Amino acid sequence: MLFDEQRTFDPAEARLDDLAASVATRKLHDFGYPVNQESRLIGFYRWLAGSGLNLAMVNNAGDPFDKEPAHLMSSLEFEREVIEHLGPLYGFDPDDLWGIVTFSGTDGNNHGLYFGAKYLENKTNKRPVLYVSDAAHYSGRRLADLQHLDMALIPSDVHGRMIPEALEKALIPERPALVVYAMGTTFKGGVDDQDALNAVLAEYPDMEVYRHVDAALFGGYLPYSEYRDAVDRRVHPFDSIAISGHKFFGMDEPGGFFLTTKDVREHQNPYNISYLNCSMPMINCSRSAMTPIKFWWIFQHTSREQFIEQTETMLRNAAWLKEQLDGMGWPAWLEPMSNTVYFKRPPENVVKKYNLAPDYDDRLGGELSHIVVMQHANEKRLQQFLDDLKS
Ligand SMILES: Cc1ncc(COP(=O)(O)O)c(C=O)c1O
Repeated sequence: MLFDEQRTFDPAEARLDDLAASVATRKLHDFGYPVNQESRLIGFYRWLAGSGLNLAMVNNAGDPFDKEPAHLMSSLEFEREVIEHLGPLYGFDPDDLWGIVTFSGTDGNNHGLYFGAKYLENKTNKRPVLYVSDAAHYSGRRLADLQHLDMALIPSDVHGRMIPEALEKALIPERPALVVYAMGTTFKGGVDDQDALNAVLAEYPDMEVYRHVDAALFGGYLPYSEYRDAVDRRVHPFDSIAISGHKFFGMDEPGGFFLTTKDVREHQNPYNISYLNCSMPMINCSRSAMTPIKFWWIFQHTSREQFIEQTETMLRNAAWLKEQLDGMGWPAWLEPMSNTVYFKRPPENVVKKYNLAPDYDDRLGGELSHIVVMQHANEKRLQQFLDDLKS
């Protein structure tokens, strides 16, 4: 606690104390969802409390890549630095980079679909078809609905990967293709085989293609792993990528990143808004100024070596968990590059204690759950889960 010395009783605070106490206990075995419960922002809050910034309303309504910040009551300069810090991790040339800090992975996907559709329309005068796998996060389907995009939902294989033959069957080559590659599906952690899918797309050289990568969770740690090429656009070309910031990177509230190229940015309606003194290609007007600063803080205070270490530990712990489940004869699976171990669903009390997400797949015997091995899911806590499962 930072400010507890002089507290007098306040019933509102007392109620919030209950919430805080419950969350603080539960978070240690919160294994079912991809969030990093080891937020490193305590130093940030210490600084913020005495800074004066906590007493102001700041707003990033504006384009962080405008030469002059649209207005000074913002943290646009820091937002831009965050995007410039991340760009090279995904193979973006620093001179050909545009992006924003988003409200979430879904917000990043919203921008990916919107920018992709507008880009393709601008180039071809045709509305694209969206291709996304049925194992990808549901936001693709929701956003297709929201944006009135024609969508082909492509079946996935048992590993959660889009089936290339099914994409081939569904393609409408007369229309441009807006393809979402899932780099880590939500439940199984399946990674779409970009080479195989690109080979299908390459059979139609006249078809304009835009590739958006949904790398909500894996996009955080893959750049720090031996699998970094999977999210490097120089190796596997893509036009935009969305990553959640509260997953691997340890933001303590929803947030994320949307990165794309200047070419894509320039094919958007810029909405030059005089009263904002800038162009507004992004979907939202007001955007958080605090989230970019918190990300900036995280990147200032976490070295590349620390992110590498966190990644190695997570992947090692995931492999260890899978091995232990195998040893117990409990059906379990772990996809390549993944920190998500999925397995036959445990009894309800274990599901509840560890906040495990449920899913169902007939091909794997029916009811499933998974553990997303994030930074806080260390070997000791995972051992406790295994002990509970045994008993
Ligand atoms: C693959 C994938 N994409 C997108 C999302 C949505 O991200 P957010 O919850 O940050 O909106 C998730 C969330 O778990 C996800 O797993």
